[in-house]
Amino acid sequence: MLNEGKHFTICIVGGGSRYTPGILRMMVHEMGRFPLDKVILYDCEYERQHRVAGYARILMREYAPKTEIVDTTDPAEAFKGIDFAMMQIRAGRMKMRESDEHIALKHGCIGQETCGAGGFAYGMRSIPAVVKLIHQIRQYSPDAWILNYSNPAAIVAEATKRIFPGDYKVINICDMPVGIMSMYAETLHKKPSELEARYFGLNHFGWFTHVYDKETGHDYLPEIRKIYSNMPEDPDDHGLDHSWAETYRFMNKMIREMPDEYLPNTYLQYYLYPQHMLSTENPNYTRANEVMDGSEKRTFEMIDEVIAAGKLKGTKYELDPSDNKDEHATYIVDLAYALSHNTGDVFLCMTENHGIISNFSEGAMVEVPCHMGVHGPEAINVGEIPTFQKGILENQFAYEKLTVDANLEGSYRKAWQALTLNRLVNDKDTAKALLDDYIVANKGYWPELK
Ligand code: G6P
Ligand code: MN
Repeated sequence: MLNEGKHFTICIVGGGSRYTPGILRMMVHEMGRFPLDKVILYDCEYERQHRVAGYARILMREYAPKTEIVDTTDPAEAFKGIDFAMMQIRAGRMKMRESDEHIALKHGCIGQETCGAGGFAYGMRSIPAVVKLIHQIRQYSPDAWILNYSNPAAIVAEATKRIFPGDYKVINICDMPVGIMSMYAETLHKKPSELEARYFGLNHFGWFTHVYDKETGHDYLPEIRKIYSNMPEDPDDHGLDHSWAETYRFMNKMIREMPDEYLPNTYLQYYLYPQHMLSTENPNYTRANEVMDGSEKRTFEMIDEVIAAGKLKGTKYELDPSDNKDEHATYIVDLAYALSHNTGDVFLCMTENHGIISNFSEGAMVEVPCHMGVHGPEAINVGEIPTFQKGILENQFAYEKLTVDANLEGSYRKAWQALTLNRLVNDKDTAKALLDDYIVANKGYWPELK
């Protein structure tokens, strides 16, 4: 097999993220089949990343002593001679996510990280940040695979497609469909690796059309629909953050209410039930607050405890060899393996629509199943999609396209059009009020709009 036994060098871009420890643990789990010489953590902020790196060094010393950890804020040191860049940056960090969500709610619109007005504001920050980093990576490692899961991925993908045309080694991906597939797998008493999805849409805006058994080809989708539509409502949050537990409960409702349709991505709750979703949001305590007080805080407390103890082994943070539940992380290592070893395994990722969805805009970055190998993603044909999905997706795509236009051209008019077109705004006056507030809040992050 190609690159059999090769040891890789990986850079985690956004090394200070709360996701980094999970990614590192997964790398440790997979070290046997995907050995790493070096993991470089790169972040523009030294402090936070240095704490994560402290954890990383202890982890590797105990579980993978041959893997070196480097943490740096210097692009030359970070990006030279790497095989993979795994990009998970959040321009403006959680503070700006909070601002995005609060401003949207102030104007009576859904405040959400990647959807609606909040996603627009975040997209306008992400585009310049991601583009700059990809240029820097390409300067030092022209052939590295760049696995980008910085959000809002649909908007970021539309921008990277335009700025780096033909660079098939820039791959935009998301863990949400993987997370949903893992749930299906659990319900069916299968391993996620035994199933393969057929799916179409834009990122955070799509549907599963089939859930195949990899071995037999059997399509489980009708069974899954039946099981989830008949599932009694479970009031227990099962250790999940409350809003995520609600999201999964709502997914069952969507499946129940749309029995003739494909199975929805959880994010469709915002686009198909905006009034309900708005009624559940608290302008004084949004998801950003929940994350800052919840998973982010817990992760950094864990990091500090491990650093203070100087070890994981013999503590409650000791690795459990059977634990591979972190979908976000698993997906990334699996994908890196498929690309570097040319396996052709199927993953959902964003790729340019050239007839894949035959009745959808040419060139749109659609999220579809692709074979992954040395030539990058090679999509599996979807064919024609129904009128409802086509209509709502074209609207969303037009909004995303205009957002990227506005960003790259510095156009106020297009930004206003984009927000007006957004299903979760939908009103010219509201769009203007939002835009004007966001411009003030995002000074230094957004390009100037004229
Ligand atoms: C899923 C999505 C990501 C998103 C995350 C938000 O993993 O695929 O794109 O960023 O959820 O989760 P959070 O815990 O930050 O609300
Ligand atoms: Mn995502």
